[in-house]
Amino acid sequence: MNVVVLYGGQSQEHQVSLISAAGVIRELEKMPDVSLSLAGITLEGRWFLQDKTEQLRCARETGALTIIPDPESALALHPGEGIVDTSGTVLPVDCVFPVLHGAYGEDGTIQGLLEMCHLPYVGSGVTGSALGMDKVRAKQIWEQNNLPVVPYITVTDAITVNQAPSGKNPGPDALSQITQTATERIIGTFGFPVFVKPNAAGSSVGITRVEDSAHLGAALKRAFRVDATVLIEQALTVREIETAVLGNSDPRTFPSGEVIPSHQFYDYEAKYTDPAGAALKIPADLDPALAREIEELSRQAFLAVGAAGLARVDCFLHRETRQIYLNEINTLPGFTPISMYPKMVQEGGVTYAELLRELLTLALE
Ligand code: ADP
Ligand code: DAL
Ligand code: MG
Repeated sequence: MNVVVLYGGQSQEHQVSLISAAGVIRELEKMPDVSLSLAGITLEGRWFLQDKTEQLRCARETGALTIIPDPESALALHPGEGIVDTSGTVLPVDCVFPVLHGAYGEDGTIQGLLEMCHLPYVGSGVTGSALGMDKVRAKQIWEQNNLPVVPYITVTDAITVNQAPSGKNPGPDALSQITQTATERIIGTFGFPVFVKPNAAGSSVGITRVEDSAHLGAALKRAFRVDATVLIEQALTVREIETAVLGNSDPRTFPSGEVIPSHQFYDYEAKYTDPAGAALKIPADLDPALAREIEELSRQAFLAVGAAGLARVDCFLHRETRQIYLNEINTLPGFTPISMYPKMVQEGGVTYAELLRELLTLALE
């Protein structure tokens, strides 16, 4: 089977993808019936075929892949045909594995491109990916399905939306007006503290916990740098429970895990750069009825947005009320061998290699 792994990509999570893909290629390479090709996508969005031996060495030595943008190895996508190299040869591809996170990787855009090229791929399709990436729309769909979400409001930077491309940041006057309106809405609903998040991002990029109105403006400015739609949520005192979902129309779940951040919240540093940033407990210490409820909720959340293949559904368990809330769905979750998704699946009795094999099979269903 000819498998092309895509990695890197044009998102704030480019670096995370380099680490996720290192784990995936090391395992795929061992499969005797898989012929592996690697396409590195630069931050600018250019595709380059990568030397496998070199990348495997890099994966072994640094734990991350790299992208060498040699013009001789540039790739192009031709709708109706596939992936084409500089000599005009169409690469033989049975399945594409997009090991990409965030914008242009997990949001339906690359999935659309692959559809146009008639290339099967691992993971959710265009709609499932787009909805999974859009925090507000995912919440709206879950609410319509009577699935619980954290109270939230959305703030749109109408100025940026209507007057692009003047830069992503609203000017000082606009920002202060937006901040004032947002403060009134927060006070009129759930009150401070709140979490301010860019609508479509991941790995906690652009997220701030805000204790009071004095700090709201700076947090909004930070989030608007990432997305013109910003979500403000009530900050809850929670346990963070994550569940791996695997399958297509009748997916299965694995025993949930718990993330216990040592930082104020599970921020970028706690996720990736501070080795003591978070403890992972798999399976989470939950009473069996609650554990079943969270797994079923995660399955429902997956089906409601039309996800496929895999997703990690992240829930909050309120420490006082014991209420469960859906936080978000990640349709291409972190995939290093020590990431939550593969670890939870492995704890559930499916090896990393078996997981990859199953994802390829699901992609071709
Ligand atoms: P991302 O898509 O970047 O992972 P999340 O919505 O998962 O964004 O938020 C990142 C982290 O911020 C969460 O893992 C959690 O630690 C904290 N967090 C987010 N929203 C809330 C909330 N409403 N209450 C408490 N903590 C939150
Ligand atoms: N967005 C990161 C990769 C995750 O959710 O694991
Ligand atoms: Mg998250």
